[in-house]
Order: sequence, then C-alpha cells, then structure tokens
Amino acid sequence: MKHLMDITDLTTSQIDDLINTANDIIVNPEKYQDICKRKKLATLFFEPSTRTRLSFEAAMVELGGSVIGFSTSDSSSSSKGESVTDTVQTVSFYADIIAMRHPKEGAPLAASRRTTVPIINAGDGGHSHPTQTLADLLTIHREKGRLSNMTVGFCGDLKFGRTVHSLINALSRYDGIEYVFISPKELVIPDYVKANILDKNNIKYIETNKMDEYMPSLDILYMTRVQRERFFNEADYIRLKDSYILTIDKLAKAKKDLSIMHPLPRVNEISVKVDDDPRACYFKQVQNGKYIRMALILMLLDILV
Ligand code: NCD
Repeated sequence: MKHLMDITDLTTSQIDDLINTANDIIVNPEKYQDICKRKKLATLFFEPSTRTRLSFEAAMVELGGSVIGFSTSDSSSSSKGESVTDTVQTVSFYADIIAMRHPKEGAPLAASRRTTVPIINAGDGGHSHPTQTLADLLTIHREKGRLSNMTVGFCGDLKFGRTVHSLINALSRYDGIEYVFISPKELVIPDYVKANILDKNNIKYIETNKMDEYMPSLDILYMTRVQRERFFNEADYIRLKDSYILTIDKLAKAKKDLSIMHPLPRVNEISVKVDDDPRACYFKQVQNGKYIRMALILMLLDILV
C-alpha cells in the first residue's frame, strides 16, 4: 500500500522517475490515453481549490480513467458530523485512488491509516502540499535542467504557505541549494522547518524583509499569497497582505535567467505586467502540475509503462 503524504515519502530516484514519466507524457500523450481504463480517482476536497482538484481530475481523464468526488465539505456528510476517516473509508469502496485536501494538518495521514486504496495529500492546512512540490520540481527541472546548485528565494507568507514548506523539504535533498527567505517578521518560516530541515542539514539561508537587496543573487524567486484563511484575525491579514508586490521595476536587477514561480492563486503579489516577461513560470507550473499528477497516479497504482 502506497500513499503520498509528504514529499519525503518519495526517494530522490522516485522523483527522478516521476519527472522522466511526466516528460514522456508531454511528448507522447497517446501512449498513456487508455492506460487507466476503468480505474476511478476520487477527489475529496474539504477546502477550496481550482488547480489542484481540476488538474487531478484532468490527469485521470487523460489517462483514460474516470473521476468521482466532492469539491466542498458542505456537499458531503462531513456537514452532518461524519469523521474524515469514516468518509474516506467509505470512498475507498468506490475508488481505486483518492486525492484529498483538508484544512486540518494531518487529516490525510489519519485517513490513510484506515483505507485500502492509495491516498494522496492534496494539501493539509498550513503543513504540506507534496503534489504542488512535484509540479514545482518538474518546472524547475524543465527550466534549469537541474535541481541542484541554485539560490532559491521564497517571498511572502512563509509561515502558513504549505507549498513553501514542502518545496524547501524537497530541494534541501539536492546539493548546493541556498535559500533567501523574504517575509515580514510576522510571517517567517516556522521553527520546525529550520530545525528539522535547514539546520539539521547545514543548509545556508538568509532571512530578510528586503526583496530588492537579494534580487540579483536569485536563480528562482518563489512568490506566495498571504494565506488569509489561516489568520486568526482579519486586521493582521489586511496589514500584511500587500507586503510584497513583484513589479517589472523590481526585476530590473534580477538575473536574465531568473525563474519566477508562484503556486497560484495570485491575489496582488505579482503585477499582471510581469506575466509577459519570459522569466514568468507560474502558468507553466499549472501545466506541469497535470503531467506530474498523471505520472504520480501511474506510480501509486503500480501501472508500469
Ligand atoms: C496553493 C495551496 O493550496 O496551498 N495553491 C495550490 O495548490 N496551487 C497555494 C495557495 O493557496 O496560496
């Protein structure tokens, strides 16, 4: 039984295999179009999503399979008080594989202990989001041709941004990665990320609130949305929401081959004028997300290509 709860559930060689399969799917989609015939994916989304849910669904459809599920918790029996584990145990009788998003950290892990089918964590609270990380890794690999020897800047909400925590976890396993963490002091990366990943592995990082100063050193700039839904108090959100806005002017001192990333949805963090800059990669991340999820479904269903 295989689940994907966290990016560390995959070895670096499994990540390489997923990247290779995704690249093959991009070139030879017809080879994969019936490979999941009669298989069902259930998407159980207890929290809003556009890209993650629809890319899972598109991925399964493009593999020839079909999709069931729900996109809000109020349309499921959780609104009647059913536990997550009972809901997931029920769905495991209907589907071959489950992608689940939940606002509570650890909910997919709890569910995975009670099912007979593979479960994929499609985002659990402010904790982790391994399939976004796979989309990010495929994008970095396609843009840079490598996953090592880079200075990676993360900017915005580094406290609640689960995509940030998962990507740091993944990239820290490659050689020569250095980080610049740009955030207001209220939204710095959590201590557990520093202790368990960065300090433990002697990884170099800088924490700053100045984007301009470090812009010239970056190979990747990963912008994030301030995660309104995880704030306890709206006034703090309003005060912090526009802390960083990436504009064309701010990119003047950036490297010519900088990759600008963002997991999306964007609110104000990146001016739409940046979208036409060849360094903007965030819509490529969206495209890559579907292909890497196709590869992941094949891996977890043990379908050899
Ligand atoms: C991210 C998420 O849900 O954590 N979005 C995504 O899955 N692409 C980032 C966000 O919501 O800001």
